Amino acid sequence: METTTTIKPTFDVSEIRKSFPILEREVNNQLMVYLDNAATSQKPQAVIDALNYYYSNYNANIHRVHTLAEEATAAYEATRTTVKDFINAKSTDEIIFTRGTTEGVNLVAYTWGRKNITEGDEIIISGMEHHSNIVPWQILCNEKKAVLKIIPVSDEGELLMDKYKKLLSSKAKLVSIVHVSNALGTVNPVKEIIDEAHKAGALVFVDGAQSTVHLDIDVQEMDCDFFAFSGHKVYGPTGVGVLYGKKKILEEMPVFMGGGEMIKEVTFEKTTFSDLPYKYEAGTPNIADTIALKVALDFVTENKKDIIRNHENDLLKYATEQLSVIEGLQIIGTAKNKVSLISFVIKNAHPQDIGVLLDNQGIAVRTGHHCTQPLMKRFGVPGTVRASFAMYNTKEEVDRLVSAVKKAIKMLT
Ligand code: ALA
Repeated sequence: METTTTIKPTFDVSEIRKSFPILEREVNNQLMVYLDNAATSQKPQAVIDALNYYYSNYNANIHRVHTLAEEATAAYEATRTTVKDFINAKSTDEIIFTRGTTEGVNLVAYTWGRKNITEGDEIIISGMEHHSNIVPWQILCNEKKAVLKIIPVSDEGELLMDKYKKLLSSKAKLVSIVHVSNALGTVNPVKEIIDEAHKAGALVFVDGAQSTVHLDIDVQEMDCDFFAFSGHKVYGPTGVGVLYGKKKILEEMPVFMGGGEMIKEVTFEKTTFSDLPYKYEAGTPNIADTIALKVALDFVTENKKDIIRNHENDLLKYATEQLSVIEGLQIIGTAKNKVSLISFVIKNAHPQDIGVLLDNQGIAVRTGHHCTQPLMKRFGVPGTVRASFAMYNTKEEVDRLVSAVKKAIKMLT
């Protein structure tokens, strides 16, 4: 009889680390421990090489007939196909390149929002949004005399879903919700949020800035109307992001910025616009970084997101256990479903001071309000210390964090 052995996939973090040259850096005479991945992740050598190779070999503007331009166009459009597959969009027409998540939110607020929101309409966001998913809607609501409604957050850092359902009425035109909180790590039940919003006749924008690097993203399964993310948080370069929108909605939206590339024909009397996706990509795009984004996404796919996630979840569990027993330390955000991110405060110590003392020991964390001032107010804290883990972090690094926090506490309290 034939027997089969199932080999449990293992994750070799020391091999992974070799792909990221910056991890060999020393900070304050110690090997750096980089735990500010939610702000921006480090880049594998392949991404750095792709940028260098583009500028050294085929730097050209896209959509021209000469050889270099054809090569650059092919590479630029190849990224669009990779992004389509990465988030499981139906078509590359639904993939718009932006500078990042913030631009994605603003694009929709300025185009779809200005066309569709009128006096008395309601836009629903949550109490755990990043400022970039608050301010554009606030500007729009002020301009249109519409109303911004807020889904409250529980003490654990979860959305109060019953309150959300009560907020949904025929006045609700849009729900714009963060998939994963950058300040708490909470994974929100976006599928349920979307289904409920659609039942009420509202569209849904999902801010995927923090989720895309950790979770499997399937925009068709989710059925969101818009989804945005930033390349630099998924091991790609800064300055390139993606806005996904359902094709029919994007087709009906007015244009965003005017300029070259987004037109079919211009006369002094009238301009006709390009088809999707170029309609929303005015001017010379960020060609190099967009090309390198493909390499970053391929890197994640090759290393298998589910295996990376297991590793990150182990780190989250270990760090939570180690940190939560430290006297005077309180974890802010204890949702059941979290990504590998821990926010905490220390009794009688300002987060900024902790951050400086950790940096002195070679450890990079983010401190402050994390661009979520209303959320900090909800928890009654000025800010937190945030450690966010990526695929290349290790348990030994968690140990260094824990002993550095203990040392900082001794110095400050
Ligand atoms: N939104 C990014 C962060 O949470 C910059 O750090």
